[in-house]
Amino acid sequence: MKKSKTVFLTGASRGIGKAIFKKLNKQGYKIITPSRKELDLSDPTSIKRLTEVNKKLKVDILINNAGINLPQWIDELEDKNLEETLRINLISPISLIRAFVPYMKQQKWGRIVNISSMFGVVARGKQTPYVASKHGLNGVTKTLALELGPYNILVNSVCPGFVKTDLVLRNPPEKLAALAKDVPLGRLAEPEEIAELVSYLISDKNSYITGTNILIDGGYTCR
Ligand SMILES: NC(=O)c1ccc[n+]([C@@H]2O[C@H](COP(=O)([O-])OP(=O)(O)OC[C@H]3O[C@@H](n4cnc5c(N)ncnc54)[C@H](OP(=O)(O)O)[C@@H]3O)[C@@H](O)[C@H]2O)c1
Repeated sequence: MKKSKTVFLTGASRGIGKAIFKKLNKQGYKIITPSRKELDLSDPTSIKRLTEVNKKLKVDILINNAGINLPQWIDELEDKNLEETLRINLISPISLIRAFVPYMKQQKWGRIVNISSMFGVVARGKQTPYVASKHGLNGVTKTLALELGPYNILVNSVCPGFVKTDLVLRNPPEKLAALAKDVPLGRLAEPEEIAELVSYLISDKNSYITGTNILIDGGYTCR
């Protein structure tokens, strides 16, 4: 096995993705982080273009991190929101896995981490597309752990609770305080805490965890 492994990471410009980038960069990984201009996950032709051009790209580790959440009640839910959320959060990660898995199979080593959500395990009103996409992603994780286990490719989901990123910090301060109050640890997570778990899962130290949807939510879902 070569020394410096290549990681393909989506959504590294901000939030959790940025924290993952910083952590893995320090650890000496070679990291490919396409900008939105290079890879727009809402556009299927964009994924096709990027993966065709990079057919020979030897990706050892894929981290599907980019995601969106546009809360709308079911009776006001717009098709555009529904389709875009499912496309970015669920369909595009599957397409990327399909593109990069042949090399991992060939070398009989690979790690895939899908950044899901605690709302891939439990639910929340007003978030039908998001909850559906993250439950779907957790199902993809389990399916591919079964399918790819024989090739020594470990597939896991990381399911964060409320993390201090744009996605959550767009809420008014009083809403943020209320969210934190509902978390047994009494606070929101730092993006770096999520990056720490991802770093473990993709490392050689993880040799037996696969097919799990790991909650990292300060205990929120225990209620
Ligand atoms: N924050 C939380 O509390 C929380 C909790 C549970 C799960 N998560 C999950 O964690 C992941 C990261 O969330 P975050 O909080 O770090 O979000 P964020 O701060 O809003 O960042 C989202 C990232 O996704 C990228 N992205 C969005 N749409 C894209 C598209 N069409 N094509 C390519 N990239 C796109 C963004 O790129 P641009 O900069 O170009 O927009 C950005 O890098 C998501 O999957 C989210 O569902 C977050």
